[in-house]
Amino acid sequence: MKDKLKPLLEKHCLTREEAREVLSCGKDPEAVARLAEEAVKIRRQFYENKVFVRGLIEFTNYCRNNCYYCGIRRDNPHVVRYRLTEEEILECCARGYELGFRTFVLQGGEDPWFTEDKMTCLVRRIKEAYPDCALTLSIGERSGEAYRRFREAGADRYLLRHETAQEEHYGMLHPEEMSLAHRKQCLYELKKLGYQTGAGFMVGSPGQTVESLAEDLVFLQELQPEMAGIGPFVPHHETPFAKEPAGSVELTLFLLSVIRILLPRVLLPATTALGTLDLNGREKGLAAGANVLMPNLSPLKNRKQYDLYDNKISTGEEAAECLDSLKERVARAGYCLVYERGDFCGM
Ligand code: 5AD
Repeated sequence: MKDKLKPLLEKHCLTREEAREVLSCGKDPEAVARLAEEAVKIRRQFYENKVFVRGLIEFTNYCRNNCYYCGIRRDNPHVVRYRLTEEEILECCARGYELGFRTFVLQGGEDPWFTEDKMTCLVRRIKEAYPDCALTLSIGERSGEAYRRFREAGADRYLLRHETAQEEHYGMLHPEEMSLAHRKQCLYELKKLGYQTGAGFMVGSPGQTVESLAEDLVFLQELQPEMAGIGPFVPHHETPFAKEPAGSVELTLFLLSVIRILLPRVLLPATTALGTLDLNGREKGLAAGANVLMPNLSPLKNRKQYDLYDNKISTGEEAAECLDSLKERVARAGYCLVYERGDFCGM
């Protein structure tokens, strides 16, 4: 086991073969503990014991895509679709600002109703109203020109998970009209435009293997994202993957540690999916090397409708209204919840 972890612990980078070796230790409690210890140490060097919060605004659940894992896929007729108006979105920001948030994340399905012009205008309005806040977009694949305009209007960050870096596996998760090549092209474009860029993947998605995960780790090292979002796959009952088993919390924690070591300064959330599968998932994520939490700022009336997977939590401790109790929980876990913008260390 020691030998297999050596390249990661000593060089902080991995070849594909070395990544496979590390992944083969994912179920060994001693290896898990060793990597978590190293991950926490590295995070402390850059971010002390700070945990950053982001206010998540799920502003549309319309989606033109048909990803096999996702509850709001185009072909799910049972989804009650909603779009927040520009005013509603600005109200979410106002409420978030009051609560202390200094980063807003606008996340949605790929909804063509929010055209390039509408999004640009929205970004501009939010940044005018809250110049001291960071704005993150998470609205999927758009043209390079669209990304450029959003950036010019003031967007600071962009989240676009690659979902899997292995072609064959990508094809098992997505219909033919989507491609890994295009997803990667978008991510490189975002980096080039100066966004703090987030990639990431689900853990335990159907068809995932040690090989595909090794590919994910190699791709993250190549892209060098400023943020990485990983969480367990959770089945949704109205998708083609309804009967597939959920991903493992333990493997997710192990991968959080590996990613912290590979990308020492990365902004790494303990995700909602992790909190959904395990009551203490968020805290366990922090103990494995995560340093970001993303409480839900969406209007209460819409939260249940942003239903990516079954039992998605939205009104408990992860909700923005419960920031005080979240702060307490984070403190009990030995960390300090802070309200700064929380940029990538060095940006
Ligand atoms: N389980 C876990 N995560 C999911 N996502 C979408 N569907 C699921 C699911 N069933 C994740 C994807 C997407 C992000 C917004 O949510 O990785 O990029």
